Amino acid sequence: MAESSAAVRVLLLNGPNLNLLGSRDPQQYGTVTLEGIERRVRALGAELGAEVECAQSNHEGALVEHVHRARELDGVVFNPGAFAHYSIALRDAIDAVETPCVEVHISNVYAREPFRHTSVTAPVAQGYIAGCGPAGYELGLRAVLARVEERRSAVG
Ligand code: DQA
Repeated sequence: MAESSAAVRVLLLNGPNLNLLGSRDPQQYGTVTLEGIERRVRALGAELGAEVECAQSNHEGALVEHVHRARELDGVVFNPGAFAHYSIALRDAIDAVETPCVEVHISNVYAREPFRHTSVTAPVAQGYIAGCGPAGYELGLRAVLARVEERRSAVG
């Protein structure tokens, strides 16, 4: 990881169908677009001294590669979408990199269909936020920065 004086770099990563935020099922996901969420999280990052890079993909392999790339970064805020419920490949990718990852779900998955109650990725994430709406991403950024800070103080 970078030295304590270096800028903190965080990846905001979104999985399948989250590019449709804004028009997709507004009752579950609200009306803010992914671009709007990315703007808010980047702005909060700037306030808190972190540079936020944003990526979204509908493809499992591309998401695995984004997680691998996060080895060069300090933290990840990740909404894996439906892949959270069954992608062992993403679970293994998060587990393989040391970069702390906070999993975010916009909706309260536990108030929805039973197949959404399982996350195979959450056990290898450092934290988990669900049901807070789009604001969950900002909470995710704060949570991941707290982890980065803990790691930096432990190192030096
Ligand atoms: C979601 C919840 C998932 O169950 C669903 O498949 C999504 C969005 C959320 O943000 O609430 O695509 O990850």
